[in-house]
Amino acid sequence: MRSHYLPLLLPLLSTLTTALYPTKQIYQFPVGTWLENLVIRPCGSILITSLTSPSLYQINPFTTPAQEILIHNFTDATWTVGITQTTPDTFYVIVANGSLQTLSVAPGSNRLYRISFPPPSPHNPNPNVEVSLAATLSGARLLNGATTLTPNEILTADSVLGIIWLTDITTGSSHPAFSDPLMLPTAAPPGIGINGIKILPGIPSYLYFTNSALALLAKIPLHPNNTAAGPAEIVTHAPAGTSYDDFTFDIFGNIAFLATSQGNSIAEVKTRNGKQEIVAGNVNSTKIAEPTSAQLGGDGVLYVTTAGGLAVPVVVGGEEVRVGGQLVAVEVGLGV
Ligand SMILES: *[C@@H]1O[C@H](CO)[C@@H](O)[C@H](O)[C@H]1NC(C)=O
Ligand SMILES: *[C@@H]1O[C@H](CO)[C@@H](O)[C@H](O)[C@H]1NC(C)=O
Ligand SMILES: *[C@@H]1O[C@H](CO)[C@@H](O)[C@H](O)[C@H]1NC(C)=O
Ligand SMILES: *[C@@H]1O[C@H](CO)[C@@H](O)[C@H](O)[C@H]1NC(C)=O
Repeated sequence: MRSHYLPLLLPLLSTLTTALYPTKQIYQFPVGTWLENLVIRPCGSILITSLTSPSLYQINPFTTPAQEILIHNFTDATWTVGITQTTPDTFYVIVANGSLQTLSVAPGSNRLYRISFPPPSPHNPNPNVEVSLAATLSGARLLNGATTLTPNEILTADSVLGIIWLTDITTGSSHPAFSDPLMLPTAAPPGIGINGIKILPGIPSYLYFTNSALALLAKIPLHPNNTAAGPAEIVTHAPAGTSYDDFTFDIFGNIAFLATSQGNSIAEVKTRNGKQEIVAGNVNSTKIAEPTSAQLGGDGVLYVTTAGGLAVPVVVGGEEVRVGGQLVAVEVGLGV
């Protein structure tokens, strides 16, 4: 999720113009729906979370027309946020009692639920999805992005405390694992600091994160035991007038694709040198209206969720426009 207010307009370092990748809307939810995050299942279907209902949806992007399927409603919560896969077809999703108006979460209501799709068997060709509570993060304030550190350890970004929690899903216990000044929110409301988090494997591996209030992408080097090997360093700043929400990497880790929130576009950043270009969407278009997150499919399609302009409407020909939260396909190809 992103800030309702424009972040500091940091100097635009290296935004170049380039040909845009083709985009195609796969599905649009009703107006007023904020889609927050997505993950791609091994079968290619896409799981989607929402800040405007306590729901986990699935969309198969290969059926025409695409349809939404409700996988689960978390009846004791109001929203679903970050989601990450640990082992094939097992996912952990952040669920909480949050308010989009105040951008705050009821104390003690941040939880991680386990979602598992058992493989079909001859006796049970259509097994039911399994949903169970994995952990309650009672000390967390506003959990946002999630990623998998090891098959038994989930990291979640706390946008208000400006830290990253580590949850051991075998025990359900959590502790603050990373903190850095670059993760903190600013004093200005609503104060969404650290947002998306992802590990880029390598020697060393890096923990990348976005900070929405500071409108930047940063990284922390990791020791082999997955502790911080140094302070966070800035990779790049969001283009002027935009911010960063969640992001993903290409398969080689050469490029990060970032959702630019009120920029209504996708930014491509080279991990080697921080060089940045806008590669899809346009600030004046509802094609990618207020993007929230992105994931690259094995088919070379970058799947993007959007908030539809619910917080910051898209201005088209002088008119403020809101659309329903979208699932958009950006054809980036596999050669990126
Ligand atoms: C799931 O929750 C949403 C939002 O509260 C509600 O509109 C919908 O009817 C629910 N669906 C089911 C099947 O309970
Ligand atoms: C979350 O909201 C549900 C439904 O409104 C309520 O029953 C529950 O007590 C709340 N939990 C917390 C921890 O606020
Ligand atoms: C992790 O590795 C670093 C570097 O070898 C070491 O300094 C640190 O004590 C280790 N931390 C833990 C918790 O094992
Ligand atoms: C968006 O629209 C504004 C106002 O019409 C215009 O000044 C600006 O150049 C447009 N931006 C882009 C990227 O097309």
